[in-house]
Amino acid sequence: MHAHEAGALHADVGQPVPGWLSVPNDVNALLPQLWATGVARQPDGELAVAGVAVSRIAEQFGTPAYVVDEADLRARARGFRTAFEASFPGGADVYYAGKAFLSTAVARWVLEEGLHLDVCTGGELAVALRAGVPGARIGMHGNNKSRAELVEAIEAGVGRVILDSFEEIETLAGLAGERGVRVPVLVRVTVGVEAHTHEYIATAHEDQKFGFSLAGGQAAEAVRRVLASPQLRLLGLHSHIGSQIFDDAGFEVSARRVIGLAARVRDVHGVELEELDLGGGFGIAYTSQDDPATPAEHASRLAEIVEHECRGFGLGVPRVCVEPGRAIAGPAVFTLYRVGVVKTVELDAGARRSYVSVDGGMSDNIRTALYDASYSAALASRTSAAEPVLSRVVGKHCEAGDIVVKDEFLPGDLVAGDLLAVPGTGAYCRSMASNYNHVPRPPVVAVRDGQARLIVRGETIEDLLRLDVG
Ligand code: LLP
Repeated sequence: MHAHEAGALHADVGQPVPGWLSVPNDVNALLPQLWATGVARQPDGELAVAGVAVSRIAEQFGTPAYVVDEADLRARARGFRTAFEASFPGGADVYYAGKAFLSTAVARWVLEEGLHLDVCTGGELAVALRAGVPGARIGMHGNNKSRAELVEAIEAGVGRVILDSFEEIETLAGLAGERGVRVPVLVRVTVGVEAHTHEYIATAHEDQKFGFSLAGGQAAEAVRRVLASPQLRLLGLHSHIGSQIFDDAGFEVSARRVIGLAARVRDVHGVELEELDLGGGFGIAYTSQDDPATPAEHASRLAEIVEHECRGFGLGVPRVCVEPGRAIAGPAVFTLYRVGVVKTVELDAGARRSYVSVDGGMSDNIRTALYDASYSAALASRTSAAEPVLSRVVGKHCEAGDIVVKDEFLPGDLVAGDLLAVPGTGAYCRSMASNYNHVPRPPVVAVRDGQARLIVRGETIEDLLRLDVG
């Protein structure tokens, strides 16, 4: 589905309340699947994370702020690693996909939890290296890596470059040859699977920019060229089918196809590939309608699929890698906003909608406008005994499509000064944030064991003015 060009404003004709959204029995209750495990209401009704009240966070760091429950993010990272290690006795590596959200602190956390790191630009690589992530633990992605980025990757000694084009095979082999090194690589295969998600984030159907197509024979040719390049060491094949996926059926088809190619590589070249990377894409809950599987469920299902397919082709089970981003960072974070203007709009047939303006918006969360994504929200600074009203959380940008949470029931007595929390904003919110309308990007605050600390400073107008050289 495409977002409406003019923004979501024009999209909601008909029923004002979407079918999946019902009036909550208790508007103060927190749905556990939406919130980091350290988030709870205190006896006085205020939300706290890891023992720190949101009003303290707002006072100390300002709003809006992205608030990370460090223990929760670490537990999700660890949960993926232990689940995949347990399900794949032949070995499994979990690469945290840094594109979801990367800072030096987060890179260190996932490293300490035994994960590897997937980066896809020179910028993300620089953050990883600044954090002290050893090159060997880094996988370098990108469909259009520059020569400079490839040189940086080689010099950092990355554990793998995921090859995306014929040009890249040649360039990387040349650069490796000049430096007298042999670079470990994976070949990214486009398997013709379109995951059931938003079109813009489904990346394995063939009509798109990523990877070597399987059906067109490009993937087999890429493997041939890599094997013919002594400067490159082919570890295995890679496939990523999309993002925010709930159904493992897409992984089943893609695994079958990639393993089929691995069998042909064995037959044609006599080489058994050591690794299979199935990419990321594991879905998370943004609203009450989402019911994601656990890492253990994904791991055991993928293990079944991979074992079954390998057996079918007479192959041993390779080392398996996955690259979750959203499922590690997303639920560990909420965005804390301060409520400003609240206005009520009369809709058809006596229905009403409350527009709750907050002090951020599409510059700190573009996903609602860009993907028509759904989010939830809760009054954070207090509880309320008021009736829940159909609400829309909107930002401060000069655009009607500046919507953060399109549909939610919020207490009918929200007033300026209240704090509002939007959960599930750890992935692709700070990392896709902009300075639209010259709004500075918010800080990222990590909370752990009753202590809150800044891990990414918020921008100031001064920061923005400094870029303007006249
Ligand atoms: N591996 C590769 C090769 C990827 O391209 C991606 C995401 C991931 C792993 C991680 O996927 P995850 O587990 O986070 O779903 N901006 C969009 C998502 C774009 C995903 C791009 N690639 C959004 O906000 O939904």
